[in-house]
Amino acid sequence: MPCSRVILDTEQLKRIVDTLAEQLSSDFSGVDNPLALIVLEGAKYFAEDLIGKLNFSLDAEYINASSYSGTASTGHVKIENSQQIEDAIRGRNILLIDDIYDTGLTLHKLLQWLQTCGAGSVKTCVLLEKDIPHEKHIDIDYLGSSVEDAFLIGYGLDYNGQYRDLPYIGVLDDALIGSEPSGPLEEIAD
Ligand code: IMP
Ligand code: MG
Repeated sequence: MPCSRVILDTEQLKRIVDTLAEQLSSDFSGVDNPLALIVLEGAKYFAEDLIGKLNFSLDAEYINASSYSGTASTGHVKIENSQQIEDAIRGRNILLIDDIYDTGLTLHKLLQWLQTCGAGSVKTCVLLEKDIPHEKHIDIDYLGSSVEDAFLIGYGLDYNGQYRDLPYIGVLDDALIGSEPSGPLEEIAD
């Protein structure tokens, strides 16, 4: 097992997603034409499960943002495909969906960008928040769970492109830090 310990198992993740879906379904019932903006690659698994449980329909766009190298934030956020989706954002009620609020730099940059694109309104929905002093404070409207400060893998979270498909979230085993991925790395975004 690549984790030294599991912190959220499959059942716990399901309950978290169910609770968020219930809150969103009630809050978004009157919202006009909402658009989910999913931060790739990490939030893909979470967002897919979540959206499948909503009782309203919403469009979805994907944004590639990356700031991590190995187990550390580079402090520099790269947004890859912003130009292609700018037009889809203007005037829309956005639900920004990400996997984890760590330093807050990624969400901060995305929120700034959404403002410059002229989004009608923005709500944030994040699966996990690390229990640390964040570099940027972000108001998370819908939070799944607070977690300890450790490098986590699974349910979308990766280490150098690996372990995203684990059906649980766990702490990366120290023995694996520095290890090279076994195959070619195709994914570049967090
Ligand atoms: P930020 O530091 O809040 O900007 O987080 C940026 C991104 O880094 C998140 O969206 C994740 O994709 C990734 N990230 C942060 N912490 C972890 C972790 O513990 N494991 C895997 N990816 C992480
Ligand atoms: Mg991410």
